[in-house]
Amino acid sequence: MTEDRDQLDRRSFMRGALGAAVGVGAAALASRAADAQEDRYPSAPSSEERPSARRPSLYRLEADVRDCEVTGEIPSDLNGAFYRVGPDPQYPLRPGNIPFDGEGHVSMFRIKNGRVDYKSRFVRTERYVAQDKARRILFPMYRNPYLDDPSVKGLSRSTANTHIINHRNLLLALKEDSPPAALDLLTLETIAPVYTFDDQLPSKTFTAHPKVDSETGNIVAFGYEATGHGSDDVAIFEFTPGGKLVWSTMIKVPYVGMLHDFAVTQRHIVFYVIPMTIDEEQMRRGGIHWSWDKTKPTYFGVLRRFGDGKDIQWFEGPTRSATHVMGAFDDGNRIYVDVEMSMSNPFPFMPMKGGDPWDPVAGQSRITRLSANLSGRTPRGYQIETMYQDYIGALPRQDDRYNTVPYRYGFLGCPEPNPQGRPGACYVRFDHQTRKVTLYNAGPDTSLAECCFAPRGPDAPEGSGYLMGVATRNDEGGRADLVILDAEHLDEGPVAVVHLPMRAVGQVHGWWVPEEKLPAAV
Ligand SMILES: [Fe+2]
Repeated sequence: MTEDRDQLDRRSFMRGALGAAVGVGAAALASRAADAQEDRYPSAPSSEERPSARRPSLYRLEADVRDCEVTGEIPSDLNGAFYRVGPDPQYPLRPGNIPFDGEGHVSMFRIKNGRVDYKSRFVRTERYVAQDKARRILFPMYRNPYLDDPSVKGLSRSTANTHIINHRNLLLALKEDSPPAALDLLTLETIAPVYTFDDQLPSKTFTAHPKVDSETGNIVAFGYEATGHGSDDVAIFEFTPGGKLVWSTMIKVPYVGMLHDFAVTQRHIVFYVIPMTIDEEQMRRGGIHWSWDKTKPTYFGVLRRFGDGKDIQWFEGPTRSATHVMGAFDDGNRIYVDVEMSMSNPFPFMPMKGGDPWDPVAGQSRITRLSANLSGRTPRGYQIETMYQDYIGALPRQDDRYNTVPYRYGFLGCPEPNPQGRPGACYVRFDHQTRKVTLYNAGPDTSLAECCFAPRGPDAPEGSGYLMGVATRNDEGGRADLVILDAEHLDEGPVAVVHLPMRAVGQVHGWWVPEEKLPAAV
C-alpha cells in the first residue's frame, strides 16, 4: 500500500509540477506525462480500481462538428481558420517514453460569417501508416532510432505533432527531427507525408518554429542535426511565399542540444543553445534522445542573414533553459530576443544527466529579454533581464505579422490564483513599452492551451484583433471550448465561446490563417 501511495503521490506531483513549470498551455501534455510516468510503475492501481479514473491517455477520435454551438457572437471581422496540432499516440506509450512522442493530430476551427465548424484528423505520416498497417508500435522511443523495428528502415520518423503553418496553399505539420508533412488546408487530408519543397530542402530536418518575414512573407527556417542523427550541423534557409529557395547556409553549434526555436530580425539570425543535450549512452540503454546536462553553459549565437554563416558570434552565458521566442528585434548594434526562460530543465519528464532530481521551482519559466552587443570585437557574455517577475508560464506568442521586426505586445498562458483558492488558468497580454499587463482569468477547473492571435484584418495595427485558445473544462470530463477574446481588452472576458460537445485533441502549438490566405471556400 505504501508503494501504491507513493506512486499516486508521484502522479499528483507530476500533474501539478508540469502545469507550473511549462504553463497551462501544456495541460493536455501534463496529463499524458503523468500517464507515461504511470506506465513506468506497473504496481500502480489500475484505472478500474480508482473511482476518479484518469482520462484515457489516447484520444484517437477524428471528429467533424458542423455549426458548433456558440455563446456570445463571433466577430464579423474574424474569418479564417484556427489550426492546432499535438501528440496523440496510436498505442499507449512504452514505459520510459515521454508525452512528446505521439502521432500528430491536427484540428481546425473553421470560422466564417459567424459560424464555426470543427474538424480533426491524424497526420498520415510514414510512421503513422506503417504502425497502422502493423497494428502495433514500430517506433517505441522518442527520437531513438536504435530501437526502431527493422521493418521501418528508411521511413521518415516524423510524428508531425509540434506546430503547423500555412505555405503555398498547404498546411505544413512540423516535427523538428524530420521534414514537414503537407496537408490540405480545408480537408486536413495528408497530401505529402514528407514535404521537401520540391527537393530544395537543404537539410534532413526542419524546425517546428519557422518565422514569416514581416516584409517579404518569406519563410525563414532551420534544421538542426541537419546532416544526420547527432550531427552538429545546423542548416539555415529561406523560401519565398511561392516556394523558391533564396538563401541557405550551414553552421556548427558548440554542442548538440535541443534547438527548438530561433529568432529572426531583418538583418540577423539568433540561436540559443541550451544544455538539453543529445545523450547517445542513454539512447543505447533504451532511453530518449535528450538529457539535461547542468554542467554545460548556454550559447547565444548571432549571424547575418543572407551571409555565408562564417560571421557567427557565440556569446557564452550561464546554464539556463529557454525553448520559445516571443519576439526579437535589432536596435543599432544591439540585438534583443525575448524568450521564456527557466534556471533549469523545465520538463519533468526529461531526464537529468547524473540522476539529480528534477526541480519544479528551477523549472519555472518567465519572460526574459536576452541581449547582446554586436559591435565588440570579441564576443563576451550576453545580458539577461527578467521582464515580468510575477508571471510564470510558457509558450509565448506575438502578433505573428511582427515575427522579424520590432514589436510591442506579447501574449502568454499562465496560472493565476483565484478567489476560490484553486489554480486558475489565464491569458495575459504584455505591453513591452509600458510593461503593463492585462489578464483574462478563465477561473477554476479550467486549463488553457497555448493562445494564438488573429488580427482584425491585414492592415490592423499591431495587437488589434482577437486572442483565442482552447479551454479544457476539467469539471466536465475535459470537454473543450474555444475561447475568443478581444486582444486589446482581455480583462473584459470572451466575446464568444465556441462549445465542443467533447474533449478536444491535445495541442502543442496553434496557427491562425486568415480568410484571404485560404483556398476558395467550400
Ligand atoms: Fe514549440
